[in-house]
Amino acid sequence: AVLGVLASGRGSDLQSIIDAVEAGQIKAKIGVVLTDKPNVMALQRAEKAGIPAICVDRKKYDDRDAFERELVKQLKEHGVTLVILAGFMRILSPYFVNEFKNCIMNIHPSLLPSFGGAHAHRDVLAYGVKVSGCTVHFVDEGMDSGPIIMQKAVPVLDDDTEETLSARVLEQEHIIYPKVIELYLAGKIHVNGRHVTIDD
Ligand code: GRF
Repeated sequence: AVLGVLASGRGSDLQSIIDAVEAGQIKAKIGVVLTDKPNVMALQRAEKAGIPAICVDRKKYDDRDAFERELVKQLKEHGVTLVILAGFMRILSPYFVNEFKNCIMNIHPSLLPSFGGAHAHRDVLAYGVKVSGCTVHFVDEGMDSGPIIMQKAVPVLDDDTEETLSARVLEQEHIIYPKVIELYLAGKIHVNGRHVTIDD
């Protein structure tokens, strides 16, 4: 299998996947890292690991179609078979999702279907829930809406800020995302409609 990772910024989830590949936990290579913005840390992390790192700058494309056609072209040129969204802050169109049917995963920093969207931690704190967490799911045409593969809960503490909560959640993201990829590559993850089962 060849992984293609899409990221938009800091790339700490990407780093956890790079580390898991290097440690032999994930038995695949990362064929390419693509970002939609220039000069982001995700690109530096990929370069440092010797992985092809390409910015497909959204600003240089007239519309989402043209932008996504370039993403798909790059992924295919690099032989990608599993697309990993790691802090990629854009919604993919049905065209893209169809090109990699059931082969796109995302991680979201809340317990879906609660608190989807771009400001999960802020929304969690504003609502006052006592438990949050992270969710790895397959990607469909909706936002944060595909079948859920794995979730991990963490407590929300009385004095949490977005920073302290996101740090607690990220720690778990960096464990479950590589784990899910490992299991997927081992053929242990099965999807039946909305329901995902994992062999033990
Ligand atoms: C993570 O919290 C991830 O769940 C969300 O965006 C954040 C990305 O962080 N989708 P990083 O860029 O991987 O450090």
